[in-house]
Amino acid sequence: MGDKFYITTPIYYINDKAHIGHAYATIVADTLARWRRQKGEDVLFLTGVDENSQKTVDAAEKAGEEIVAYTDRMAKEWESLWEKIHISNTDFIRTTEDRHIKTVQDFWERLRAADDIYLGKYEGLYCKGCEEFKKEEDLVDGLCPIHKTEPELVSEENYFFRLSKYQKQLLEFYEANENFVAPANRFQEVKSFVEAGLEDISFSREKRDWGIPVPNDPHQVIYVWADALVNYISAVGIEGWEEHPADIHAVGKEILRFHAVIWPAMLMSAGLPLPGQIIASGFLTVNGVKISKSLGNAVDPLDLVARYGIDALRYFLLREVPFGQDGDFSEEKMKERYNSDLANGLGNFAARVLALAEKENLASGALDDEFEKKIAAMKIAAEKKTGEFKFNEALMAVWDALAFGDRYVNEKKIWVITDDAARRKALFNLVSLLDNIAAALLPFLPEASKKITDAIRWEGKALRAKKIEVLFPRIK
Ligand code: MSP
Repeated sequence: MGDKFYITTPIYYINDKAHIGHAYATIVADTLARWRRQKGEDVLFLTGVDENSQKTVDAAEKAGEEIVAYTDRMAKEWESLWEKIHISNTDFIRTTEDRHIKTVQDFWERLRAADDIYLGKYEGLYCKGCEEFKKEEDLVDGLCPIHKTEPELVSEENYFFRLSKYQKQLLEFYEANENFVAPANRFQEVKSFVEAGLEDISFSREKRDWGIPVPNDPHQVIYVWADALVNYISAVGIEGWEEHPADIHAVGKEILRFHAVIWPAMLMSAGLPLPGQIIASGFLTVNGVKISKSLGNAVDPLDLVARYGIDALRYFLLREVPFGQDGDFSEEKMKERYNSDLANGLGNFAARVLALAEKENLASGALDDEFEKKIAAMKIAAEKKTGEFKFNEALMAVWDALAFGDRYVNEKKIWVITDDAARRKALFNLVSLLDNIAAALLPFLPEASKKITDAIRWEGKALRAKKIEVLFPRIK
């Protein structure tokens, strides 16, 4: 086994089923997990669900279900969604599992031992949707800008976490780790936020019967974020984390502060190592409109997969949305990209090359210079761009090589070359190119990549190709 690589998605709230925005967040992490695995690394890829939220209680009530039955059902639904779309996670965590509850309580004790937990009085505006206290200046017309709801005034006795103590240490850490947050503009926002000064934060809620109890205080449960963030440790254990903390936490931009400010401070307090990098994706809209239950515009990823396939969904999201920016999903645009880039592009090229090559005995030999160069350039670009999370540009580099291959087929008119050696040489070039394209696509389009790679076989010095089923049937 190669080096270890540990990547996580956020854990999802289970008050509702998943929509395309959630699928996007998970697909980004899955792409990176597959990329690292392809390099021979020993990948731990964690996803899961965040159950100890007041939202869970409300949703169960609304569904008329007993809470444990509700959480079991929903957790299963989320887990099986990722299975159905072939997400390659190696673990799935629920925050109601013993391994998590125990880790959260141990973690809490570490913060307390560091004198970073104290009892105080809290009064503030709480947004249930965000599970977060808001300041007046965070609100727009008195409403949470994300949930468009009025936060409730909460006044209770809470345990606080001494976040303010870590301002200097955080800034020093950011200074020393210039890639801690990507993209860079988001890192700038994080730094400015911390530079402006940090206040201690409420870390527990009073008199709740759903959540993880504060050790030695049955009247309080641990604040859901103070519980949820620790999931990244629960999956590997405190010792496992000390040995190898997460390399990447993939998150959405609205939860970046929790991951890039509060979480590192919690780890500093607990005397544990910090994650390598936090990468923040933007938000997806559907036809230009924010995804919301009340608007009923929540596109179901399973529905899209049933009609277009897993790779098509991945391709659209990774190709269309520059990482870090907000993006828009529309079925019109998805269809367009599907037909032009996948059906006419990749699918057609693979089908043509493999059909032409099937009848031939291709011996290995040197590639033509231009192919050699094209393949090398594609590999370098795809590798570099993926490392910078510029998935769209990595894909563009592959499609550039594809277009080159397409032109070559058309210009050479392989099917009319009568000279056996010349025809075989041309086909050897093309099959090699296709083989390399498939390899470059493995992290992005795992299904198509495998089908192509399976159709190309090296037998000693001979290269055998066989026809494949249509990869991406055209859609009207
Ligand atoms: N439970 C917290 C995360 C805790 S992590 C320790 C949470 N859950 S969430 O279900 O609300 O969101 C999970 C992820 O989905 C976030 O990264 C969020 O950005 C992402 N998305 C939710 N809606 C989205 C879009 N419309 N578009 C893109 N990503 C979206 O926050």
